[in-house]
Amino acid sequence: IKLFADGANLDDMLAAYYGGIVQGFTTNPTLMRKAGITDYEAFAREVLTMICDRPISFEVFADDFETMYRQAHKINSWGENVYVKIPITNTKGESAVALVKRLVGDGIKLNVTAILTLDQVQAVNNVLSPYVPAIVSVFAGRIADTGSDPVPIMAQAAQMLKAESQAELLWASPREVLNVYQAEICGCDIITATGDILKKLSMRDKDLSELSRETVQMFYDDACKAGFK
Ligand code: E4P
Repeated sequence: IKLFADGANLDDMLAAYYGGIVQGFTTNPTLMRKAGITDYEAFAREVLTMICDRPISFEVFADDFETMYRQAHKINSWGENVYVKIPITNTKGESAVALVKRLVGDGIKLNVTAILTLDQVQAVNNVLSPYVPAIVSVFAGRIADTGSDPVPIMAQAAQMLKAESQAELLWASPREVLNVYQAEICGCDIITATGDILKKLSMRDKDLSELSRETVQMFYDDACKAGFK
């Protein structure tokens, strides 16, 4: 499975890039806002001067399909390694599948995002092409947030895509390191993770007895620091 970094903090992105931890990057408007970005294009172009040999997704930010279409073409023109993120729906709940079909027809590499249902996966799969690279981002963490298990959904999505469009399936919004293993078992091609999860990857296969001791050490240190009597 390929690991991508999800975020818009340039320093963190470069650390992940030069650290060789990740094979690609994803951003979204919320992460950009969190990183304090106000000039979208200037930010994207700056990133792309430094990261030009690994896939990186930038999302359209309009809410009407005509403007999204124009933004997609503009974003696509910024770099060979750019995937344009198109949300599967607009804020009115109208499907973006026709827009996806049009952009695929133009040969634009897409990352279809904010997908939460298998019906959405199927609808996108129907209009993608094996000749135009594409990523299908299913927000597994947001599915889990509702109390549903994303694993069977992701496994089915992987089968659907492999049989037809051959788009890459991305496990989005992971909540814990366990999700990296789950994504791999489900047949996902990519998982994108924020810095907090990337940091925790060093915990992979950590000895659990030692982790138990470290946990108690933390309690003890904090009790001492608090000066409990
Ligand atoms: C993926 O490309 C998205 O940017 C991201 O994983 C969304 O995460 P969230 O659902 O935690 O906002």
